[in-house]
Amino acid sequence: MSKTILLTGGAGYIGSHTYVELKSAGYDVVIIDNFSNARPDVIDRLAQITDAPVTWHKGDVLDKAFLAKVFAQHAVDAVIHFAAKKAVGESVEKPLDYFETNCTGFSNILMAMQAAGVFNVVFSSTATVYGEPLSLPYTEDHRIAPVSPYAQSKVTCETLLRQLKDSDPRWNYGVLRYFNPAGAHDSALIGEDPNDIPNNLMPYIAKVATGELPHLNVFGDDYDTPDGTGVRDYIHVVDLARGHVQSVGKLLDDQDTHILNLGTGTGYSVFDMLRSYEKACGTTLPFKIGPRRAGDIDCFYADPASARDYLGFEATRGLDEMCQSSWNWVSRVRNS
Ligand code: WQD
Repeated sequence: MSKTILLTGGAGYIGSHTYVELKSAGYDVVIIDNFSNARPDVIDRLAQITDAPVTWHKGDVLDKAFLAKVFAQHAVDAVIHFAAKKAVGESVEKPLDYFETNCTGFSNILMAMQAAGVFNVVFSSTATVYGEPLSLPYTEDHRIAPVSPYAQSKVTCETLLRQLKDSDPRWNYGVLRYFNPAGAHDSALIGEDPNDIPNNLMPYIAKVATGELPHLNVFGDDYDTPDGTGVRDYIHVVDLARGHVQSVGKLLDDQDTHILNLGTGTGYSVFDMLRSYEKACGTTLPFKIGPRRAGDIDCFYADPASARDYLGFEATRGLDEMCQSSWNWVSRVRNS
């Protein structure tokens, strides 16, 4: 009998890729999403990729009655919680919105799970919980020092999970701290699909490559890095999705709790990505050097050893594959 996984925010960038990998691993999957940051036609594309109908419900994690109905309708074995706001800059402008969606929304999910007797949850967290690096690479025991309301909301949720487990040992959770997700599915049918001007580097470069934006603004070239531009640990979204399958499988098999970095352990600069994207799209991409972006730091990347040792997780796709898959997505199907 297949286990059933509920994906909150399952129509979004990482959620949709995780859906594909879960189905490939033999799980039954239910998606809930309010489609605030996802296009409805992603459902049809997921059906196309998996060659099977998709079970999904449109609704909000702030709607407790909706959540109760979902759990009454489906015998859920575990939840992977993606539904959250994730823009650092926006969180500084709208801290209350971020608390409501990211913290109250997650609390609603946990309460609905508890009422339904479901105690396995994988939580989508972020490396920005670590704040300014005291040392690199970031290990999971690095000091927690969130700078933005977004990062704070993720720390609040991680803390809630720990306190929940302390209060009731039936709870089992996996916290996955993402580095920088990038790229798209090999089919070019799903990928990152920001509604407006992207905050993140790769989707911005993608819009320069398609001609939707005139040039890339490089936020500073005076950082303490080899070429002066910011260095980050980009991880292919399909590798990231597979990490979620391994995490939820471990929860269901071992009822064990884990907190893990999901990164590659390799840092790439802005110029590294720009050059790789030029190879992918076959043209030179214009850029301008601008001032640093508030809140950015020189460099951060993961120590991926814990996820490797505990889950057997290895990110296998490099920067060129991330850029090529992104270009395939934005240039062929995205604009169809
Ligand atoms: C990467 C590098 C920029 C855009 C953020 C969140 C993090 C996670 C991933 C949610 C930096 C430079 C960027 C541009 C640029 N999100 N850059 N021009 O800031 O490392 O992480 O997204 O979980 O929580 O903090 O990613 O892609 O925004 O920036 O020069 O137009 O690219 O300065 O060095 P970041 P990013």
